[in-house]
Amino acid sequence: MLMEEQQEHLFAHWPEPGSDDEKKKCFFDQVEKLDASYPGGLRAYIHNARQLLADSKAGKNPFDGFTPSVPAGEFLSYGEDDFVKFEEAGVNEACYAVFVLVAGGLGERLGYSGIKLALPSETTTGTCFLQLYIESILALQEASYRKNKGNINLQIPLVIMTSDDTHSRTQELLESNAYFGMKSDQVHLLKQEKVACLQDNDARVALDPSDKYKIQTKPHGHGDVHAMLYSSGLLDQWQRLGRKWVLFFQDTNGLLFKAIPAALGVSATKDFHVNSLAVPRKAKEAIGGIAQLTHSDGRRMVINVEYNQLDPLLRATGHVHGDANNETGYSPFPGNINQLILKLGPYIEELSKTKGAITEFVNPKYKDSSKTSFKSSTRLECMMQDYPRTLSPSARVGFTVMDTWLAYAPVKNNPEDAAKVPKGNPYHSGTSGEMAIYRAHSKILRKVGVKVEDPRIGIFNGQEVEVWPRIVWSPKWAMTFSELKQKLSGSCQISQKSTFVINGANIYIESLLLDGALLVYSVDNSEVKLSARVKNDGWIFEPVNYKDNSLPEEIRIRGFAIKKIDQTILKYDQSGKYCVDFSNIN
Ligand code: UTP
Repeated sequence: MLMEEQQEHLFAHWPEPGSDDEKKKCFFDQVEKLDASYPGGLRAYIHNARQLLADSKAGKNPFDGFTPSVPAGEFLSYGEDDFVKFEEAGVNEACYAVFVLVAGGLGERLGYSGIKLALPSETTTGTCFLQLYIESILALQEASYRKNKGNINLQIPLVIMTSDDTHSRTQELLESNAYFGMKSDQVHLLKQEKVACLQDNDARVALDPSDKYKIQTKPHGHGDVHAMLYSSGLLDQWQRLGRKWVLFFQDTNGLLFKAIPAALGVSATKDFHVNSLAVPRKAKEAIGGIAQLTHSDGRRMVINVEYNQLDPLLRATGHVHGDANNETGYSPFPGNINQLILKLGPYIEELSKTKGAITEFVNPKYKDSSKTSFKSSTRLECMMQDYPRTLSPSARVGFTVMDTWLAYAPVKNNPEDAAKVPKGNPYHSGTSGEMAIYRAHSKILRKVGVKVEDPRIGIFNGQEVEVWPRIVWSPKWAMTFSELKQKLSGSCQISQKSTFVINGANIYIESLLLDGALLVYSVDNSEVKLSARVKNDGWIFEPVNYKDNSLPEEIRIRGFAIKKIDQTILKYDQSGKYCVDFSNIN
């Protein structure tokens, strides 16, 4: 097959039979694996690559002939009536959901030596992303169980797509932490395989520069998740168990679960087959826009259009200003944050046609404008958000826009690159990701009437950020606006220098005056009614230099370390009912 596909160069250096035979066998083992893990096999991969490389050389736009327009979707604002209504509908529906976390990425831009899922989402509690995600799913499961009055007792499954770069470390993280409270059979790991690299426009497969009996490989992108779910057999199993929704999400968004219940409610209420979570997008911001594309031949799709394709597409279709803001100060095309909610039935139907294959693209870095040779080998890639491209125009594809402060704060960029981000654009760094969690919790508390002092401005790792009080609660304390309202009453006030940690399902704050650090913990079968007036020197952020190798990487990556000067800890580790009136202020 390889010879038929003009890949004879792979064997050009092979010595006579009898020499290097073991290595030659390993080569064919790898070929077999690459063949088995791509829909249609290696031959199909080479054919697809030839076509896409020719299109790329010719400068073809994949959306040529399509006219963009703004699709229909839902715009929600935290705490408003619609938001609350959708949140309640979402919690109701959560017991029919499954979550799929794509976590096979290399994280090259961040440059963290561990897996991104193991990175603390914030350093006040040190909760890593995977723990935060799992605790959020469990809290949602519990809330849904309560809402359905115990009639439904389904565990919400979590699938994690890993790759060779992340698989064993993800498994270790789960096992060494007792799955963060999930049942081990509730979690499924699916490992994606890499694809062959290509050395030229003829799609000749590249050999590994360090081993001439090995084909060089690179990740194929998170779009693999659809084919992996299709071949895993899980989808049919879920359908038999009455599951309805598949929620896809990514490895480092500490805010996501603030948006999930309402977004799921939108999917259920509007019967969306595909619902993309989105945030307001400034024109030309480096984030894809969700657009409806219509072709004169009748094709129509609602799809993410990468920001560098959106402007030329708009200009080519009569929008003289291209990618521009409208009267709201934002682009009319919402910014895709790549968290998708798919309805299981139509998803299975579609995958039975496509087997999960997703429209691919290639992005070769050419040596010069002749586009005849590459600076380094390339490969085909695919993205999970391209799933709707093959859907029929009748499919119900929509989006849900929420405030960025509530829904989106990924950690993708290393400190040096983040510091170079033009002012006003998001850093998407360890620093901004952590600060966003404090900001979200502070703003959410303001919406339920807590007086939270304004933030101060801080500069860490060369990035200017708002430093809000360090307010963090465990997901089981409150997942939704209504739960939060039940947990907080009376007059509550928190100063900017404060740290406030709540970890427990049944902690009711009846009044609070906080100027310092207060940490409240309780076991789940206890109930705590708390009135507290606390003043102490609290915890402060000390700037650190990210180049200081004596510090842990997790600290350097964000540019500050927490110095714990003083704190009040209230801990209820025995079951029971507690009514506490605590004050250290005379
Ligand atoms: P990112 O865009 O953050 O890419 O992926 P990345 O590969 O992790 O990081 P860079 O580009 O090298 O800096 C978005 C999500 O998709 C997952 C990532 O783990 C992340 O959750 N992903 C990415 C996969 O699961 N597989 C892939 O092949 C690529």
